[in-house]
Amino acid sequence: MKVLIHETRETATGCAAALIADRLASEPDVVLGLATGGTMEAVYADLIARHRDSGISFARAQSFNLDEYIGLSPDHPCSYWTYMRDKFFDQVDFAPGHTHLPRGDAPDPEAEAARYEAAIVAAGDIGLQLLGLGANGHIGFNEPTSSLSSLTRIKTLTRSTRAANARYFASDDDVPRLAITMGIGTIMRAQDIVLLAFGEAKAKVVAQMIEGPVTAACPASILQMHRKVTVVLDEAAASALA
Ligand code: F6R
Repeated sequence: MKVLIHETRETATGCAAALIADRLASEPDVVLGLATGGTMEAVYADLIARHRDSGISFARAQSFNLDEYIGLSPDHPCSYWTYMRDKFFDQVDFAPGHTHLPRGDAPDPEAEAARYEAAIVAAGDIGLQLLGLGANGHIGFNEPTSSLSSLTRIKTLTRSTRAANARYFASDDDVPRLAITMGIGTIMRAQDIVLLAFGEAKAKVVAQMIEGPVTAACPASILQMHRKVTVVLDEAAASALA
């Protein structure tokens, strides 16, 4: 694990965006694994600026997002499809059909999860996977006690994850209880992984992920077993490291 600690989240964000831009330059048809959430918003803004000002192009790349809420259609205002269109896809140059998320409104979510996993495999698996970190140690929506070898499937969201994401919904009760998420095994097949975590609220779980035992109680700790992980932190998120 390579751990990069930046003074501010601005330089940390720039560092993660640069890793993606460099990969696109060396491998224009890279398969990107993408995440949503608050941490990623600045990364997408930075990549949009690089596309506009420096001409980085996503035209030959493909993307697969980590997860989507079950029950939300792609045009639902709180779906991750909408998040990705608004914050990223509509402002860069991915080719039509090259961006993928699970369908939260699929009539058979289990079949949709299997279809999504097969689509990732058919694309040759993820080249560069971007990850955020849940305060409970989740990656994607692989909540604590998830199988460390799991594939894309349905997961029940914990109360703490639903509370953390309630800010995107009109009320706490509107936050879906289920999601389709790439599995931990799916994520671990990625060639390279870049995980970002910012702020003091993530400090304890960052220390568990990097210095604690590998355990399903902290799903992100499995990243200790991956060959090419870069963890990008600000000083606050790094403050509980030994
Ligand atoms: C979202 C996702 C989640 C988030 C994590 C951190 O697609 O996969 O694992 O990355 O919950 O979210 P923020 O950045 O909002 O703290």
